[in-house]
Amino acid sequence: MSESGAAQANIGVVGLAVMGSNLARNLASREGNTVAVYNRTWERTDTLITEHPEAGFVPSKTIGEFAASLAKPRTAIIMVQAGRGTDAVIDQLVEAFEPGDIIVDGGNALFTDTIRREKAVRETGINFVGAGISGGEEGALNGPSIMPGGSKEAWQTLGPILKSIAAIAEGEPCVTHVGTDGAGHFVKMVHNGIEYADMQLIAEAYDLIRRGTGKSPAEIADVFAEWNKGELESYLIEITAEVLRQVDAETGKPLVDVILDQAGAKGTGAWTVQTALDLGVPVSGIAEAVFARSLSSKPAQRAAAAELPGPDTEFTVEDTEAFIEDVRQALYASKIIAYSQGFDEIVAGAEQYGWDIKKGDIASIWRGGCIIRAQFLNRITEAYAAEPGLVALVTAPYFRDAVTTAQAAWRRVVIAAAEAGIPSPAFSSSLAYYDGLRADRLPASVIQGQRDFFGAHTYKRVDKEGTFHTLWSGDRTEIESAGSSH
Ligand code: 6PG
Repeated sequence: MSESGAAQANIGVVGLAVMGSNLARNLASREGNTVAVYNRTWERTDTLITEHPEAGFVPSKTIGEFAASLAKPRTAIIMVQAGRGTDAVIDQLVEAFEPGDIIVDGGNALFTDTIRREKAVRETGINFVGAGISGGEEGALNGPSIMPGGSKEAWQTLGPILKSIAAIAEGEPCVTHVGTDGAGHFVKMVHNGIEYADMQLIAEAYDLIRRGTGKSPAEIADVFAEWNKGELESYLIEITAEVLRQVDAETGKPLVDVILDQAGAKGTGAWTVQTALDLGVPVSGIAEAVFARSLSSKPAQRAAAAELPGPDTEFTVEDTEAFIEDVRQALYASKIIAYSQGFDEIVAGAEQYGWDIKKGDIASIWRGGCIIRAQFLNRITEAYAAEPGLVALVTAPYFRDAVTTAQAAWRRVVIAAAEAGIPSPAFSSSLAYYDGLRADRLPASVIQGQRDFFGAHTYKRVDKEGTFHTLWSGDRTEIESAGSSH
């Protein structure tokens, strides 16, 4: 705490693990910010202020001191592991803060927790903001994409501070007021769902090229580096090339060949799918990415299934370059579907929870700083700017043309993967979604017939209004049902 004890910081950070420390350093590096810092254990705080004297941090040993070191309206960003720890810190800050102050949760909280917390804290007169912060440790330090929810009142104070630390894309800070209460954490959750799909698609592209062409990870890194110069330019393609180039010091083998092939997940992808199921939004590409991680982490089942028969021919492609180009196009088309599905979930969430979320703004703040940042997000921003009421991203002219160009290759890749016995759940489910979305007739008519047969759940007809039921166990005449088709 400063000698004077005067309230001199305009922003504070609670929780000084790597993300919190980096965010605090980012804040301190920006003109006009004086940053108060507090951590449950003093050692972390002491390390930070010792290692970064240039930051001019205002350290405190207690939450009380921390609150006293903040100028009003006191504004603090909580950067602790999402969960019960967050509630404990919120309670401490509510105790120490006054009406008009602002508490920001910068962790990956579940948006329904944020809705609950925002309501409870608001009753004390204090503002609560759930803010998704994307970009990992590097982003926290040098410029993340930030997705704050909460009240407009809080945004008045918080907005300029977050704009001072956010990544910049096309001259714009990658932060916007997403919407009220849990909107920010909801959009961050969907960001993570799209991230899972993006990562799975890139992994499937690698697997197909590796197994179809025999190229080494380093050679595939060169392919990805080439792709990164075009429409697939993105952070995830860029870092995947780096991962594939990495050689394991101990064995001299490509690192990717010594990494255990079981993917972890902290839960945000699963939340995206669970929420989409509740909202009735088909996010098949995202779901298959989440399930692919689950499947990879079932060693006992995989060992038991290892002897199950697959294709009896070795998978080799005739024309390597043509196949690689097919995979590139299939990746782009599948990526379009994953983002389209993600934005559909944002629209459904906004309707369900009463948020006024501007899809174009979300696309624009995802152009930089976040894990899914990509040149492609400029195209999404443009699509929503041209048509804010776009009902499906994939139908926007640019994206319609892109999938039109890519669809033959996309189909060839899905066929090749199936014939070669190479799992491509994200590629295949994205193509199935695309074909389902554009089909003029779906076999849902058969399902309605089945449901009416065993459950008298009724059905509608294409040729007249009303709700109908067939007397399947009787003379099978059709009657009009008073109720609605359910
Ligand atoms: C980000 C990332 C980050 C993510 C972790 C763990 O936007 O910076 O999405 O928030 O939660 O990287 O992700 P997993 O769910 O894959 O463990």
